[in-house]
Amino acid sequence: MVETPQERRDPVCGMDLTDLPKVFEEHVAKKNFFFCSKTCAARFKTDPEKFQGEPMIHLHDVWKVFHDGDVTTEVLRGINIHIWPGDFTVIIGASGSGKSTLLNMIGFLDRPTKGLIRLEGKDVSALSEDERALLRSKKFGFVFQQYNLIPWLTAYDNVLLPLIFSMTKNGMKRERIVKHFGDIGLGKRMDHRPTELSGGEQQRVALLRALANNPEILIGDEPTGNLDSVTGDKILDMLIKLNREEGRTLIIVTHDADIAKRADQVITLKDGKTIPGYLEHVETYTE
Ligand SMILES: Nc1ncnc2c1ncn2[C@@H]1O[C@H](COP(=O)(O)OP(=O)(O)OP(=O)(O)O)[C@@H](O)[C@H]1O
Ligand SMILES: [Mg+2]
Repeated sequence: MVETPQERRDPVCGMDLTDLPKVFEEHVAKKNFFFCSKTCAARFKTDPEKFQGEPMIHLHDVWKVFHDGDVTTEVLRGINIHIWPGDFTVIIGASGSGKSTLLNMIGFLDRPTKGLIRLEGKDVSALSEDERALLRSKKFGFVFQQYNLIPWLTAYDNVLLPLIFSMTKNGMKRERIVKHFGDIGLGKRMDHRPTELSGGEQQRVALLRALANNPEILIGDEPTGNLDSVTGDKILDMLIKLNREEGRTLIIVTHDADIAKRADQVITLKDGKTIPGYLEHVETYTE
């Protein structure tokens, strides 16, 4: 039997298997499937139907090349990734390996130099900037290492702002926002401006802002990188709880091995590509 290109793709993580020295084969429901690793093969068997369906986000041969004068840097060199609805995905890799660049592609904050990105089966490359921005504000919530709060607005108004921009009907009601401020221990600080809040408090406001639109997909780029470990753990627990209890798709970049071990999928970046396997690399690429 001649294998078609489709059969050379790992259905779980999406990796192109063509040039891999070793692949794993499984026979499931009278069909043969090929995987990058035993981890993906095992995961496939937990829900074969799901993994033959449409991923939430699909990156197909995504490249990102930066030109700086005469210098050309190929940061992403043909990335193939599947992200499944409701999954918790962690991205790891050495500093400068392209984690933030990749996350920016996944969240439509930047466009690939080459390649295809599909959201729920729909090609988003063809969309205009305005269409992308609207889709982004409806579907995604972002939490970055820098909290990026607007300094002249109160904590409450910072949270409210994305609701006004996205014109969504799906956003949190004002009463619910107020309740959440209480939940995160900032009930008395809603009217304070960011400069009057500690780092951890600002990050909690930023998290609430990311949640205001009730986004299906939460994206965090080292969301706890600037926080002490106790506050950082609290923020991460909140994010993971939203994933586990509310089924929101969660994608974060982290250097924390313990967090990576709690994920459904770990994407390891090296030399502009992803490497096979999940937990095998966690100790090597985190500190
Ligand atoms: N706009 C840009 N122009 C030129 N080079 C860039 C640009 N953005 C990123 N790079 C380069 O791309 C590479 C990957 O950067 P990126 O920020 O994605 O790495 P990272 O894995 O997130 O690193 P860190 O762990 O330090 O945050 C780096 O070498 C960086 O210098
Ligand atoms: Mg980064």
